[in-house]
Amino acid sequence: MVEHDLLEVCAIEQMSDLSTWGWDAYHRELQAMPESIMLAARVDSTFHEYQIAGFIVTRIVADEVHINNVAVRPEFRGQHIGSELLRHALHQAQQRGATVARLEVRAGNQAAQRLYRHCGFEVDGRRKKYYREPTEDALLMSLVL
Ligand SMILES: CC(C)(COP(=O)(O)OP(=O)(O)OC[C@H]1O[C@@H](n2cnc3c(N)ncnc32)[C@H](O)[C@@H]1OP(=O)(O)O)[C@@H](O)C(=O)NCCC(=O)NCCS
Repeated sequence: MVEHDLLEVCAIEQMSDLSTWGWDAYHRELQAMPESIMLAARVDSTFHEYQIAGFIVTRIVADEVHINNVAVRPEFRGQHIGSELLRHALHQAQQRGATVARLEVRAGNQAAQRLYRHCGFEVDGRRKKYYREPTEDALLMSLVL
């Protein structure tokens, strides 16, 4: 992902019911490379009015990589773009020394939980009322790399 991608990243974020980070937060995260791993899945812009089908934002802290955001344009979901983004990010994190991956996910977000399970994550905890608007528990998931 590069700075030029961020407007589209913010548009995908908005159509995905994610907690809003917004342009500034993504831009700050880009500056945090190489600790941050931010990837964009590109489409052929000859056929579409946009260039990005999905993105992932992760951050390495010590030997852990934290999955912050992953989202795919609604019309591209179910085509393994989310799992490919996650696999690439985990691979890069492993190459940079991460030994475990962690994330929180809304307890009601079945699509995301299925994606994470598909990539090997397992639930290892729950945080009550972790999310706002709407209030919801978070499931904690992790994967040994
Ligand atoms: C979660 C998300 C990123 C998945 O992306 P995707 O490209 O559609 O996922 P994939 O095609 O790689 O699918 C991976 C697995 O999840 C399953 N899956 C994907 N969407 C699903 C849905 N709506 N319901 C049930 N399972 C779903 C797939 O079937 C696949 O599992 P399987 O191989 O066992 O069948 C996408 O739905 C999305 O952008 N959601 C909104 C944003 C979000 O909730 N992000 C996660 C929290 S940060």
